[in-house]
Amino acid sequence: MGFVTYEQEGYVGIVTINRPKALNALNTEVLKDLETVLDSIDINETRAVIITGAGEKSFVAGADIGAMSKMTKEEGAAFGKFGNDIFLKLESLPIPTIAAVNGFALGGGNELAMSCDIRICSENAVFGQPEVGLGITPGFGGTQRLERLVGTGKAKEMIYSASNIKAAEAYRVGLVNAVYPLEELMPAAKKLANKIASNAPIAVRNCKRAITQGYMSDMPHAAEVEEKWFGECFETEDQREGMAAFLEKRKVEGFKNK
Ligand code: CAA
Repeated sequence: MGFVTYEQEGYVGIVTINRPKALNALNTEVLKDLETVLDSIDINETRAVIITGAGEKSFVAGADIGAMSKMTKEEGAAFGKFGNDIFLKLESLPIPTIAAVNGFALGGGNELAMSCDIRICSENAVFGQPEVGLGITPGFGGTQRLERLVGTGKAKEMIYSASNIKAAEAYRVGLVNAVYPLEELMPAAKKLANKIASNAPIAVRNCKRAITQGYMSDMPHAAEVEEKWFGECFETEDQREGMAAFLEKRKVEGFKNK
């Protein structure tokens, strides 16, 4: 994969957007490579995925402005759908995803981070939706996911004004869960990913399904969704072992994903 690399470290997958000359901006090729990498992740061998950007300056500086500059209305809509479909695939990947935001997360970059389950960032990170300054709207989920994460007022302020926010402000408004010095970001992401990977994998995947599917439903339906995924955990070897270990006052030997 030219523009997106993948490494496996034990149960943790690391996806790196790798187009540093353009600050990892997303053109069609980068998005295609990202989709190919997402499709190739072995869900049985991988329990958490980290997404980051190559280099020390940028996570992803947005969709590629050069590529978009001459698009027709139809091409623009198709590009939006192309990105949205891949980010929806990422959002519904069965295993948890962590965006390790190592610099600029602008436009499509912030939208990529918001399609992950959890966001942590480095002190030099900058977040924003600069699209209205370019004459367009956010097009890879920004008008929808930002509001759900930071609330309507803050999302509208950021999107209408095209004002970027720094890491400390992103933490204050709940866009990221934690801020680290740049050199500590990937170790922190790996520590969190490994902590997730140490828990019962079927249960973790069912939590993600329950949260993601419930999020898109009204409360009565969301409660049914929760009941379904709760019930699906029972009779698994890991459920039996997890509860037996508690009752026998011993540690779980290691969950088997069965
Ligand atoms: N698209 C294409 N190329 C980009 C890019 C982008 N989004 N962001 C950066 N680059 C390129 C620059 O053109 C430059 O290339 P050259 O060296 O060939 O000139 C290279 O990356 C380095 O960028 P700068 O020289 O601009 O670096 P800087 O440190 O001075 O500034 C920056 C960094 C503030 C991030 C600035 O590059 C910038 O403002 N980038 C655009 C950010 C943006 O507007 N993103 C939103 C895009 S629209 C979108 O994403 C729509 C959507 O919702 C789907």
